Amino acid sequence: MTFCESIAESAPNLDIEREGELVKLPAWNSNAIDSYSLKKALWERITSRNFNGNPVPLKIVSNILFTTFGKVHGDSHKKKLAERGILTVGYRRSSPSAGCLQATEAYLVALNISNLEQGIYHYRSHQHVLTKLDSGINADLSQILCHQSFAIDAGFLIVMSSRFDKLWWKYPHSRAYRSALMDVGHLSQTFNLVATAHNLNTWLTGYFIDNSLNKLIKIDGFKEHSLFVLAAGHGSQDPLSPGVVKLLKATT
Ligand SMILES: Cc1cc2nc3c(=O)[nH]c(=O)nc-3n(C[C@H](O)[C@H](O)[C@H](O)COP(=O)(O)O)c2cc1C
Repeated sequence: MTFCESIAESAPNLDIEREGELVKLPAWNSNAIDSYSLKKALWERITSRNFNGNPVPLKIVSNILFTTFGKVHGDSHKKKLAERGILTVGYRRSSPSAGCLQATEAYLVALNISNLEQGIYHYRSHQHVLTKLDSGINADLSQILCHQSFAIDAGFLIVMSSRFDKLWWKYPHSRAYRSALMDVGHLSQTFNLVATAHNLNTWLTGYFIDNSLNKLIKIDGFKEHSLFVLAAGHGSQDPLSPGVVKLLKATT
């Protein structure tokens, strides 16, 4: 209690807004996740490394962003706790989050999305809107992803970063990083299930050149650092990338 009281006045800004042109997203709807059973999503989810570059409708991207990273709950929970004398910080997503700080930010790398220009966008979770950070992909994405080149044919990637500065406020010790990693893990699984329920193939990677990826999404790599990359798109549910399949054929 004493510790919480001592930091209460110095809470960091939890609603992150990057500067840039705002890009509206279509209204989200839950039709896909309403009609796809949880069991089906759990069973159908597979890490696929074979994307065909077909565009993913922006409506679907909007649904996935909102369901995974959006402020899906209103403030009634906050109000009810306030009535009981508990002041809460932040907002709730569909996944749990250490200290409810929502330290994870989502950056959309739009590769093949219909009605959205290729580029780098930040997702404002509390407003369900994108901020354009860059037009086009002005970097060698394949190199950044350590030559996992098949990812370029996905509809989109989501780079998840962690705002360590939020975590340092409540966890002023190295366990802040454990929270950061676990937050990302929870969100990753939610993303995988939601994208699967939208009949998209999913992929994920923790294998990338950190500094280059930080540069791509324009973050400092100190207060905020990229931690994980998700992908979704059309293709076949194949754990083997086309490159590996070719290699196997060549060697047999
Ligand atoms: C933390 C983590 C890191 C991963 N990194 C990579 C990666 O760099 N490249 C990749 O192709 N798959 C990566 N994967 C996917 C795993 O290889 C995959 O989940 C595993 O082979 C099991 O297959 P499944 O997801 O289809 O069940 C990663 C998964 C996790 C959870």
